[in-house]
Amino acid sequence: MKINEQTIQAIEALPGNWHACGTISNSVLRVIVKHALSLGEIKHSLETGSGRSTLLFSHLSEDHLVFALDVGESVCKVRSSALLSSKRVRYVEGPTQKTLPQFQFSHKFQVALIDGPHGYPFPDLEYFYIYPLIEEGGLLIIDDIRIPSIKRMFDIINAEHMFELVEIVDRNTAFFRRTSAQLIDPFSDSWWNNGYNQDHYRRILAKDTIFSRIKSAFGINVS
Ligand SMILES: C[S@@+](CC[C@H](N)C(=O)[O-])C[C@H]1O[C@@H](n2cnc3c(N)ncnc32)[C@H](O)[C@@H]1O
Repeated sequence: MKINEQTIQAIEALPGNWHACGTISNSVLRVIVKHALSLGEIKHSLETGSGRSTLLFSHLSEDHLVFALDVGESVCKVRSSALLSSKRVRYVEGPTQKTLPQFQFSHKFQVALIDGPHGYPFPDLEYFYIYPLIEEGGLLIIDDIRIPSIKRMFDIINAEHMFELVEIVDRNTAFFRRTSAQLIDPFSDSWWNNGYNQDHYRRILAKDTIFSRIKSAFGINVS
């Protein structure tokens, strides 16, 4: 999908308070464009939250899905903007806490942006529904990693084999790429498969080994 420089500049020119929820920075807009162009073709993308990012994705993606509440006019301003390529955008309005679990997804996505509700555990909940849907080589963008609870989520994802960190923009927006590593089954237990838990898991394994050696050395049989 080709986007022209004029459109990018018009979106960049919208002020930070264009809607009242706070928007991604112009440098993040530019980095999204850079990665989108390097992906070649974005057939399907999604985001939580709505705003200037939605305007941009409407020119980068053939089919952009938005899960958002209209807080601070962040939805209605986008929907009525001349900068929106509306035929490529579908809105699912409502709290993502309700809409994401109910939505029937029928394909994978090349790009996903998490920038909806920011309180714990809402971005984590969104991640749960979104991570299995990201295509290998696709991008996961997480905004506002300066918020401590989102930083914790960032640290956990950053340690996953499923994702590699591509870059962090403005110390606030993280860009991950989906690797070829096996998907962590979203309906499994699997805590020992999380990269974030590896040290702890290895310590437990080592302890178990020592205990079983001691038991066999002393002939202790615990049934
Ligand atoms: C920080 S803004 C998103 C900014 C946008 N990415 C941009 O570039 O302008 C947060 C968005 O999340 C939406 N939002 C807040 N709580 C929500 C919830 N529980 N469910 C869905 N969307 C929510 C707000 O209405 C707003 O659209």
